[in-house]
Amino acid sequence: MTMQRREMLRNTALAAAAFAFSRDSFARKIESRIINNFPPSKPMIRLGFNENPYGPSPMARKAMMDAINGSNRYPIDAVDQLRNRIGKEYNLNASNVVIGAGSSELLGIVGAWTVMKKGTAIVPEVSFLSWTPAAKKIGLDIKTVRLTGSRVIDLSGMKNGIESNTKLVYLCNPNNPTGTVLPPNELEAFIRNVAPTCTILLDEAYTEFNDTPSMAKLVNEFPNLLIAKTFSKVYGMAGARLGYVLAHPQTISEITSLQPWANASASAVSLAGALASLDDKSFVIYCKTENAKAKDIFYNALKKANISYIPSSTNFVYFNCENYSKDIVAQLEAKGIAGIRTYEKNTRWCRLTVGTVEEMGKVAEAI
Ligand SMILES: Cc1ncc(COP(=O)(O)O)c(C=O)c1O
Repeated sequence: MTMQRREMLRNTALAAAAFAFSRDSFARKIESRIINNFPPSKPMIRLGFNENPYGPSPMARKAMMDAINGSNRYPIDAVDQLRNRIGKEYNLNASNVVIGAGSSELLGIVGAWTVMKKGTAIVPEVSFLSWTPAAKKIGLDIKTVRLTGSRVIDLSGMKNGIESNTKLVYLCNPNNPTGTVLPPNELEAFIRNVAPTCTILLDEAYTEFNDTPSMAKLVNEFPNLLIAKTFSKVYGMAGARLGYVLAHPQTISEITSLQPWANASASAVSLAGALASLDDKSFVIYCKTENAKAKDIFYNALKKANISYIPSSTNFVYFNCENYSKDIVAQLEAKGIAGIRTYEKNTRWCRLTVGTVEEMGKVAEAI
């Protein structure tokens, strides 16, 4: 028996034991296992990181291969080209766009930029908060606001949480891990109300999956509004590390000045892939269609197993294993599927990424 297999069986046994303990230990067990048991070399169905199983698009692949040849040069022109092209997508200009090595880089920089003004950030709990530990380390206090009972971001709670030292409000729409969307009119009203006095960082990593309207139209009106977007999700380029922020030109130049060398963080290959991706509209349609089909398979499996779920506008689903008597992690792992993650202590809510139709068929069988 290989070390890996022995380790997997040991962990499966541990998970079965943990199931009998508190809900909190259930959550911790899953978290530790996703980290320990997820080397990319292992032949598993990977559903832990909301990646797109189909990407990069055929046009992006070709452009990336071609760009390898020019990789001896700094990609200054490519940065300008991509900024222009992204600007056009949103009826904005290149001056409204800053490119980063993934939107994570820019979320971190926006956090650092906020610290320069000293104060607190208000974030929803639960949400995509990977950037907050770094921001905390450099001095930003993080204050959380619980989601509503239906696990939607509580806009009025966020508004009420703003105090004189609040420097940043973070919103993720659609929200990760819940997959929920804020009504566009309510979100716009919130921005109009809050942005005159407080910075809003709006993370729109998943809008394309279900045509969730972007708030990009508001950036020139509100210099305090920064919108983070990524090529990691519907464009399937997570490994290429390409993201961007849309904002007022003055805000963009402030954020850009915090990059060690302005606009130099993305590689020539990634920039070429991103540029080509924006022209490959049929690939985006394909990904959205397949994601919807695969998600339906997953929904049906959850329903059959008496597991309640929140309908998702993204490529992942948040579901509650409260009435499921088996250990879902072990059930999936037995079929070579990894990726269940938990975000709420003392509950049995889990998130799983939606893979291909075939992969979700296997998930359905496992459940
Ligand atoms: C809401 C959200 N924002 C940002 C990111 C990070 O994206 P990137 O790959 O562009 O750094 C993720 C990744 O899962 C995410 O879920």
